[in-house]
Amino acid sequence: MITPALRFQLLQAARQVLEQAYAPYSRFRVGAALLTRQGGVFTGANVENASYGLTLCAERAAIAVAVAAEGPGVEIRALAVVSESQEACPPCGACRQVILEFGKKALIIFQGPDGLMEMPVEDLLPAAFCLCQKK
Ligand code: THU
Repeated sequence: MITPALRFQLLQAARQVLEQAYAPYSRFRVGAALLTRQGGVFTGANVENASYGLTLCAERAAIAVAVAAEGPGVEIRALAVVSESQEACPPCGACRQVILEFGKKALIIFQGPDGLMEMPVEDLLPAAFCLCQKK
């Protein structure tokens, strides 16, 4: 669980960073903001490529920033993801797997079909593949 103030802070940060997205192909700009156990807040936006499959999602961009700042022990407490449209924008399957690597209990806040939704990443990716012993 996180406080309403932290949830608001993450959503605001995600909405702000999506302005930086590089999405000339899909025109679907996405922003993500995550909160770490240490209290850090890190953001990322999607970065597309002419070779479409090389696209980096906003969530994974934010995670790379968090690891660079806090190192390999980084633990994600919560992560918000938003798109600029009102369309639902739950994390893709690849991002669920990568988020889970840094916090099985991480709370994911995202735009669902009928408004904001939130649930632990382990519920978004049940029976996930896992090699490490992290919590
Ligand atoms: N995208 C994300 O950034 N995160 C997701 O979880 C789903 C999709 C981006 C990738 C691509 O640039 C655009 O949204 C359309 O798929």
